[in-house]
Amino acid sequence: MNLQQLETPLLVLDRVRMARNIARLRERLAPSGVTLRPHVKTNKSAEVTARIGAPGTPITVSTLKEADYFLAHGWQDILYAVGIVPTKLPHVEDLLRRGARLTLLLDNVEAARALAAWSRERGLEVPVLIEIDTDGHRSGVKPEDPALLDIAAALAPVADRAVAPTGHAGAWVAGVLTHAGDSYNCRSPEAIEALAEQERAGAVRAAERLRAAGHRAPVVSVGSTPTAHFARSLAGVTEVRAGVFVFFDLVMHGIGVCDTDDIALSVLCTVIGHQREKGWLITDAGWMAMSRDRGTARQPVDQGYGLVCDIEGRPLPDLVMIDANQEHGIVRHRTDAAATPMLPIGTVLRVLPNHACATAAQHGAYTVVAGGTEVEDRWERFSGW
Ligand SMILES: Cc1ncc(COP(=O)(O)O)c(C=O)c1O
Repeated sequence: MNLQQLETPLLVLDRVRMARNIARLRERLAPSGVTLRPHVKTNKSAEVTARIGAPGTPITVSTLKEADYFLAHGWQDILYAVGIVPTKLPHVEDLLRRGARLTLLLDNVEAARALAAWSRERGLEVPVLIEIDTDGHRSGVKPEDPALLDIAAALAPVADRAVAPTGHAGAWVAGVLTHAGDSYNCRSPEAIEALAEQERAGAVRAAERLRAAGHRAPVVSVGSTPTAHFARSLAGVTEVRAGVFVFFDLVMHGIGVCDTDDIALSVLCTVIGHQREKGWLITDAGWMAMSRDRGTARQPVDQGYGLVCDIEGRPLPDLVMIDANQEHGIVRHRTDAAATPMLPIGTVLRVLPNHACATAAQHGAYTVVAGGTEVEDRWERFSGW
């Protein structure tokens, strides 16, 4: 089977590019000796995740459904990196009883109290990371915030703090987690490097405060794809999380983390019409196929809904998907409508996505190629909560 013969739109994964991207981060992290705990929310696929680390290696998830799925496929060491709330605890218990070694995350005293009471009552050992806000991006407590020690105290009373985790019923302070999401707004390698250092230093400082208060806090978990690639030092860090590094996308290209020929995901589509006076090509990939993500709109180069390539995955000069209806894409030369090549009806194209996680989430499977247009395989991915 060749891409040329397939019904479009569909999601193409170039496994050669993907393998190169995975090797690049592994090589980058190797000298520091830190653990890579990939965020599998980007790929939601056992086939893809197995190529990052075999079943049994640590992973990060963003939903408990991801935890269910990956546990069923042999990954037990799972960090659920979204703040826990009491309504999800029955699901957590179910996962623990099925053999998951689940680590939870929280950033407030209310959740800590509820989790401590529940874990003691149910007789369950639950390692917990406290979320640290190192860049003002989203959730978490600041490294110097007095609330950090209040949250930890709510989780583990003084008598419990130094207890070895194994066999210890109840929640315990396993450490800290931070995600430097603001790295997506950086505009230079130096800025990403500086943010990576801010992320590292803030997380390490928070862990030191916890240890000084008697908590074991062995884990210092940091990461985003940009900071993972640009960190100069990982001193004090025990694990790095990254998700998008596997595929890369136009947002990562826009901040200088990858080249367009590193982007392993694309949406295959077909030219279905022309609006010659406007310089438009109409395709059958709209926002249902690309997602609504316009992550490059705030970057110096706005790539619209995606950068248009030929069927081999080579970018066509300045051809972008400027607009999207549900099942229609509008493709035009970036600046000069008259320069749009009026490609024949039926021409098959590939569109590189702004945000790999969002585009992949629109599809139920990866159509796998190895650098060319011959289809090697089809890997399922899942969605929903
Ligand atoms: C908590 C957490 N860790 C790690 C990541 C991975 O970062 P990236 O998507 O830049 O690879 C994310 C992504 O949103 C995240 O929310």
